[in-house]
Amino acid sequence: MFDSLPLAPPDAILGLTEAFKHDPNPRKINLSVGVYKDEQGNTPILACVKEAERRLLASEKSKGYLSIEGHPDYAARVQELLFGPTHEVVTTRRAVTAQTPGGTGSLRVAADFLKKHFPRAKVWLSKPTWANHAAIFAAAGQQIESYAYLDAAGRGLDFAAMTAALKQIPTSDVILLHACCHNPTGIDPTGAQWQQIAAVVHERGILPLVDFAYQGFGEGLVEDTVSLSALARPGKELLVCSSFSKNFGLYGERVGALTVVAASPETAQRALSQVRISIRTNYSNPPTHGGAIVATVLGDADLRKQWELELATMRDRIHQMRRLFVETMRRKAPQHDFSFLQQQKGMFSFSGLTNVQVDELRTKHAIYVVASGGRINVAGMTRENMEPLCTAIAAIL
Ligand SMILES: Cc1ncc(COP(=O)(O)O)c(C=O)c1O
Repeated sequence: MFDSLPLAPPDAILGLTEAFKHDPNPRKINLSVGVYKDEQGNTPILACVKEAERRLLASEKSKGYLSIEGHPDYAARVQELLFGPTHEVVTTRRAVTAQTPGGTGSLRVAADFLKKHFPRAKVWLSKPTWANHAAIFAAAGQQIESYAYLDAAGRGLDFAAMTAALKQIPTSDVILLHACCHNPTGIDPTGAQWQQIAAVVHERGILPLVDFAYQGFGEGLVEDTVSLSALARPGKELLVCSSFSKNFGLYGERVGALTVVAASPETAQRALSQVRISIRTNYSNPPTHGGAIVATVLGDADLRKQWELELATMRDRIHQMRRLFVETMRRKAPQHDFSFLQQQKGMFSFSGLTNVQVDELRTKHAIYVVASGGRINVAGMTRENMEPLCTAIAAIL
């Protein structure tokens, strides 16, 4: 039977990482994958995570299954981080949270849940968006549409076009919004724009599905929730797919969450009962370890403080690399303006490099960048690789 199978193309982003691994050039630079790197080019384990793991190892008594929706402590910590401990959606218990294997697991559970119960609802994605969004929702059998996001120059948000597009989305469709650090562009709406987006979404009765994969990587843990605060209005429904892959550096542990905000606590419990079925038929119940790390760190005042400092260090390094890149490019290629990169948030930016230039960077300089907009992971830059990187970019420009 398998003889008839065609060879599938490699994943657009993870495939580049494979190619990078096999590249023998000692000066190679990987700006493609969405993983934080420190100044030495490593993806470190946070010290707060190591300490939480030490405690867990000393105290764990069983490797038994978690419940379908995961650990209740974890769910409570997730909600506190998303909304703040005193937010109405938390205190009235109209938010319910299931622990999932990463943000991707959360998106897939949400997609299956929506497809099963709202089969006619289309899912609207920003143009552009993270490539896996379309793939995940298509795999769940959903019809996908897109809404305008990027301006013509590819450097900022076309807010007028975005809101005009939102006003055309039919009631009861689903809109996927990036809470912060938009992937792949790094371009986020302002706080005031989020208020307007929320007003349109709720006026039209569209269901917001918020992908929150980078909390704390933009401006700060609380600052990055302006989108959620705008959308979480009294009585309004919302889905949040969040992840601790990036802000805890727990990529391989697969730690995420699906939070459903319903109009009332009773409806929220009914929604959770249905989410449980999506989970049970996908992977039964979530892995224990990563969620236990997050719950341990967030539940301990000292560890939490340490985490916030470590997260700030990652965020500050990305900001510094953005500044240094803009300054270095100004020296190397003064006729090209890259200052827009400093306004963008999180790990990614659209560099504006063409597919031909992206190819040339890889084949001539062993620099790996994602095609279609030239998405670069700013966290892959270091003080050491900045000079050769910018020299190569200036050369291909
Ligand atoms: C926008 C966005 N959403 C979700 C995810 C999923 O992250 P993970 O499944 O690794 O937690 C990512 C990861 O790159 C992402 O960029």
